[in-house]
Amino acid sequence: KTAVVLFGGQSSEHIVSCMSVVNVINHIDREKYEVALIGITEEGRWIKTDSVEDIETGTWKNGTVSAVISPDATMGGIILLDGEKTEVLKADVVFPVLHGLLGEDGTVQGLLELARIPYVGCGVLSSAVSMDKLYTKIIVDDLGVTQAAYVPVMRHDLKDMDLVVGKVEERFSYPVFVKPSNAGSSKGVSRAEDRKELMEALTEAAVHDRKILVEEMIVGREIECAVFGGGNLPAEASGVGEILAAAEFYDFDAKYYNSDSRTVVDPVLPEGAAERVKEAAKAIFQAVDGYGLARVDFFVKEDGSVVFNEINTMPGFTAISMYPMLWEAAGMNKDELVGRLMEHAMD
Ligand code: DAL
Ligand code: MG
Repeated sequence: KTAVVLFGGQSSEHIVSCMSVVNVINHIDREKYEVALIGITEEGRWIKTDSVEDIETGTWKNGTVSAVISPDATMGGIILLDGEKTEVLKADVVFPVLHGLLGEDGTVQGLLELARIPYVGCGVLSSAVSMDKLYTKIIVDDLGVTQAAYVPVMRHDLKDMDLVVGKVEERFSYPVFVKPSNAGSSKGVSRAEDRKELMEALTEAAVHDRKILVEEMIVGREIECAVFGGGNLPAEASGVGEILAAAEFYDFDAKYYNSDSRTVVDPVLPEGAAERVKEAAKAIFQAVDGYGLARVDFFVKEDGSVVFNEINTMPGFTAISMYPMLWEAAGMNKDELVGRLMEHAMD
């Protein structure tokens, strides 16, 4: 069978994907699958590459063979364009190791639906809903799972900054968190301690998205849970893990560049909290119609209560990422995890 692995992408998490993908490729069973690698540059060019080393060094971007997925369902594949030469590569399964916008948000999933090529992970709806924090809020509210209170702000509302600030201050005391509705790895997210910082944070978030959320600050430990399953399989939750961020919050640099940030699998938590996290993780995965995989992130407060933070339908797969680590701790190593995800895609 041929497995096509997509990586890179046009989002602000391009570089994270390039780290995740290496970890995925190295765990694909080469006796079962022939692997074709397609990188998407930040500009959105699709380039075929052959070597993991080229991904690690970034030289894949100099590749000259274009590779595009045809939406033509009768073609069943990838079109390789090498100068004058055109070739169709039949794809049995696609693993879109893409984080963030134009990859994890249902867009690539939609293309793969048109092409009728099975793919790993969540479908169009669950990808889109999970990427958009405002929409996830609505669904999680409906489920009755606790989450941070929030004020939605549209970019055009910022024309009357005083009004927006007034609404936020009426509702919350500082500090507050300001987040673009659609963005990953905490890009565009800031913590605002006062009115001036709130205005700056809103302006910054508006660079990333038209829709913004201002959230109350939740004091709690950052606890994450991995989910696998969906479709014909029941959703299974791993154990839980904790993020010990080196920075004030787990921003992009703390996530990927600060080696003082640590992850702890199976941390000691107040009685019953881990169970509550796992139950909520599965319930949210099901509520968004999750398929394949997701990592669901929470805060656990001192009293053991659980507050939903966000869901990631293509969670980081880097060497230090929580998703594979949690499954490893639960007895499913990376070979098995990647293998099961790909099989589930073709289910
Ligand atoms: N958005 C990053 C990749 C994560 O959630 O792991
Ligand atoms: Mg995230």
